[in-house]
Amino acid sequence: MKSAIIGLGVIGKVHYEVLRSEGEDIVALCDVDFDKLGEYEDVKKYYDYKTMLDVEKLDVVHVCTPHYLHAEMVIYALQKGVNVLCEKPLCINEKEIENILAAEKASSAQLGVCFQNRYNNSSIFAKEYLKGKKIESASGTLKWHRDEAYYKSAPWRGKLATEGGGVLINQAIHTLDLLCWIVGMPKEVEGVTSNVSLKGVIEVEDTVKATYFGEQDFSLFATNTSCQDMPIELRFLAENEQIVITPDSAEINGKTVDLDKAPKSLGKASYGGGHRALIHDFYDCVKNGKKFWIDGEEGVKALRAVLATYHSNGKRFEI
Ligand SMILES: NC(=O)c1ccc[n+]([C@@H]2O[C@H](COP(=O)([O-])OP(=O)(O)OC[C@H]3O[C@@H](n4cnc5c(N)ncnc54)[C@H](O)[C@@H]3O)[C@@H](O)[C@H]2O)c1
Repeated sequence: MKSAIIGLGVIGKVHYEVLRSEGEDIVALCDVDFDKLGEYEDVKKYYDYKTMLDVEKLDVVHVCTPHYLHAEMVIYALQKGVNVLCEKPLCINEKEIENILAAEKASSAQLGVCFQNRYNNSSIFAKEYLKGKKIESASGTLKWHRDEAYYKSAPWRGKLATEGGGVLINQAIHTLDLLCWIVGMPKEVEGVTSNVSLKGVIEVEDTVKATYFGEQDFSLFATNTSCQDMPIELRFLAENEQIVITPDSAEINGKTVDLDKAPKSLGKASYGGGHRALIHDFYDCVKNGKKFWIDGEEGVKALRAVLATYHSNGKRFEI
């Protein structure tokens, strides 16, 4: 596969390392900050993603740029017939969702969304174990540390126009995606967001609390104000059993489940080790003409729930 990556920041590097280790042919890299490309050799370098997509004959392009740029980049690649693997969130508003889904439908190429935590052994265990069971209650908790230095590390962070929101659309969207996937897509939400600790520093929320209503309800609490990154925890009460998972562990009624050895983590440990598995799976689908399962429609489920939570503002809101 001839591949390229747009955006060689924190996560673009992880994509690069996975592609290298998987033996894919990385023909081009693109970043508006050329310093970010300095460390890479034997590869063509581009400043403008459109030029790269016009000039290179690519099979796959990875979109690893700030949130507000995803829609235009994904749509341009799909229109060129290039398969796209886009980092979460796929985009930042409903209009962009519709435009992306229309471009995906009209394209001969595939779109995949990077919800790599679905590939964690603990997530797969919970999905399988709870299949067909009545889930009486479920919740997700994310307590991470993102301080002023983090938000100042890139100009797009912490701004509504460029990040699209705060902890919910950026960090907790993975947790919400797992809940939607395991418990089922909710129909309504009632949630509140607040900026508890970074007033005057960020425009977006650092904390969110929401309940999602559907066939089986669930709740979410996420904050970037923790003193350190804690393991994300998902709890399920189903048929008198309490199932608790973190990215690396699972237990039933307090007893540890012997998960297969978790995939090796790339990047920050808190991201989970799923990037390699997801990228491998996406390429396998592209190479063999199979449909990748986290496509546009699947990839916007949690995003629709995120956007509805922002609209909710303490009242019931339809997703
Ligand atoms: N799946 C995960 O667990 C995970 C983890 C971290 C980040 N992410 C996602 O990855 C994306 C990038 O996040 P990041 O933390 O790597 O950000 P970052 O700021 O570190 O990197 C973004 C890069 O994009 C480049 N860029 C900006 N505008 C560009 C343009 N017009 N053309 C080409 N390059 C451009 C920047 O110069 C920068 O190098 C976001 O969507 C983020 O939510 C996902």
